[in-house]
Amino acid sequence: MTDLLPLEALYDSGQGEEVRLPAALARLYGELRFPTPSGRPYVISNFVTTLDGVASLGIPGQAGGGPISGFNQHDRLVMAMLRAVSDAVVVGAGTLRSVPNHVWTPDHVFPSLAEDFGRLRQELKKSRQPLNVIVTATGDLDSALPVFQRGDAPVLIATTREGAKKIASMSMPTLVQTKILAENGPLRPNAILDSVSRACSGADRILIEGGPHLLGDFLADGRLDELFLTLSPQVAGRDGSSERPGIVAGRPFAPDSPLWAALVAVKRAEAHLFLRYSFG
Ligand SMILES: NC(=O)c1ccc[n+]([C@@H]2O[C@H](COP(=O)([O-])OP(=O)(O)OC[C@H]3O[C@@H](n4cnc5c(N)ncnc54)[C@H](OP(=O)(O)O)[C@@H]3O)[C@@H](O)[C@H]2O)c1
Repeated sequence: MTDLLPLEALYDSGQGEEVRLPAALARLYGELRFPTPSGRPYVISNFVTTLDGVASLGIPGQAGGGPISGFNQHDRLVMAMLRAVSDAVVVGAGTLRSVPNHVWTPDHVFPSLAEDFGRLRQELKKSRQPLNVIVTATGDLDSALPVFQRGDAPVLIATTREGAKKIASMSMPTLVQTKILAENGPLRPNAILDSVSRACSGADRILIEGGPHLLGDFLADGRLDELFLTLSPQVAGRDGSSERPGIVAGRPFAPDSPLWAALVAVKRAEAHLFLRYSFG
């Protein structure tokens, strides 16, 4: 249960099959539809940025999405909803390092709706929690982190041969699977998606939660169908003392190969906007 007010739908041209949401989630989020491409999962991403395009303050302890959204409850609701309708949540090792205590489940970001998310996943015939996928070329991970040790969600580490060697020397719980997807990094999004599809048979949606380098790789290979983007009404500023990336890093697109998106939906909660763009 939550006393959160529903998101206000300002525009929605969403296509595809409607996701049948439990009543509490339908009341808060409204209608949710996803296209279902044949023979492959639909790939979505979810980010939050400030008005001046900052996706991370780049300050240890404050580098995650929380300070960007102002720990906004509606942003957490959208994050949890997208996790709840996805078979897997994929993050780069940089994101894990910035929020080391995080676990990529809907319940972790919105515990008071855990029962409703559980019912939704049952209705969608999905596993109890989405597969947490950590992408790393180096294998430079800390096996003591909650995502590996708590067993809240199954975990797959997608890595290189060198990375796997390093991981094999750690005391990772046996339930954490490691897959070698290439000799060297960076890993190609196709290889990551194929590996996730093999791990979750019948997967129809995969959620990429970043960070900016991983998102850049997915966009560069044309493997992102949609971006859910929360626009948070603060100006963070930059003075060069810390790196403050936008939602994409390491890949220049414009002006040579600009990527333009189509607007799918706009929702609002006070001054926060919840945007949805398609790259199809
Ligand atoms: N505002 C938001 O919505 C949002 C969302 C997510 C993250 N963030 C923030 O963004 C910051 C992190 O940025 P980031 O760009 O460093 O994040 P990132 O993409 O998660 O991390 C980069 C690291 O992830 C691994 N990686 C990424 N793509 C890879 C690929 N194709 N193949 C192999 N390994 C790959 C590499 O790890 P190895 O070095 O181990 O090889 C790489 O150094 C953090 O502060 C985080 O909190 C913000």
